[in-house]
Amino acid sequence: MTTPPTFAAPHKRIFSGVQPTGNLHLGNYLGAIRNWVTLQEGNECIYCMVDLHAITVQQDPAALRSNTREVAASLLAAGIDPKASIVFVQSQVPQHAELGWIFNCVARIGWLNRMTQFKEKAGKNRENATVGLYVYPNLMAADILVYRATHVPVGDDQRQHLELCRDIAQSFNSQYGVDYFPLAEPVIMGTATRVMSLRDGSAKMSKSDASDYTRINLVDPPDLIAQKVRKARTDPDPIPGDPAGLEARLEAKNLVGIYAALADKTPADVLREFDGAQFSKFKESLADLAIAKLSPITTEMRRLLADPGYVDGVLKDGAQRARAIAEPILKEAQDIVGFLRA
Ligand code: TYM
Repeated sequence: MTTPPTFAAPHKRIFSGVQPTGNLHLGNYLGAIRNWVTLQEGNECIYCMVDLHAITVQQDPAALRSNTREVAASLLAAGIDPKASIVFVQSQVPQHAELGWIFNCVARIGWLNRMTQFKEKAGKNRENATVGLYVYPNLMAADILVYRATHVPVGDDQRQHLELCRDIAQSFNSQYGVDYFPLAEPVIMGTATRVMSLRDGSAKMSKSDASDYTRINLVDPPDLIAQKVRKARTDPDPIPGDPAGLEARLEAKNLVGIYAALADKTPADVLREFDGAQFSKFKESLADLAIAKLSPITTEMRRLLADPGYVDGVLKDGAQRARAIAEPILKEAQDIVGFLRA
């Protein structure tokens, strides 16, 4: 196991979020959630189901509600301790949206026009994308800064959004002549910072991919995990002995990376272990490993979901604790902006 970085000074605070838009997949787990668990040791952590972000694209209301509970249960099952950390739902803490509006009036259209995730998600029909999708990164900055969080553990795909968060903090501070919002740093940890699709090594593993065979979901039963790994795309060559042999073999590289992350080893260690093996044999080991690591989480998640009252209670408590931190920070930000206090 890697030793967790500790940001123990009292003014250090960790915040991160996940969209409750469907099942969590291996990319979410290896790129983010697993690191959230590790970071709990010695740090103050706040973890959020970002439902306000989810509705930037159309959601079925009943599915959104049940996904929010499911994602919360997955976090708890993966090892987030709701007593040590704050776990809550974004829409239950209205301060996010209120600070988000202030940031809409700080961020520049030119900055948002550069966001690659908006371009990807809006696709060709940009005129038809919601305004919420466009200003999504401003709300994300508010999520972080309404707690004056200093460190944000995320996968590699969130890097650009975090740069924007820093730009917003800096711009707010300089516009109002204060040193109020911190320049939050991304914490991109581990070897699986960008887990790719099982079917296309050049595309990110994603909840929104139409084919379920592109991803391993935390709720997948063991036989489905094994089937997905068996069907994962590879090439005819055997496993090389060192990382140089994986260059230009995107799918092979991705599977080795997943194995390494799950086994807590480096890709070089994994290649030494499987040097010369055929992918059919490697995939068997990978499926066994994935099942061994994920099944306990799935089982615990199902146990938690059998008692939705427990999960809702955790979220209610989390929202109260989150509001207690966010409320005075929002008030101070409003004072800085010049709003008349009620
Ligand atoms: P979301 O819900 O897409 O993903 C949640 C976390 O999982 C990481 N991730 C991945 N990591 C590695 N490989 C992948 N294939 C992969 N797919 C997803 C993401 O990087 C993320 O850390 N905008 C955010 C949610 C958000 C947020 C925030 C995050 C809203 N406000 C404030 C941090 C701080 C998102 O859509 O994550």
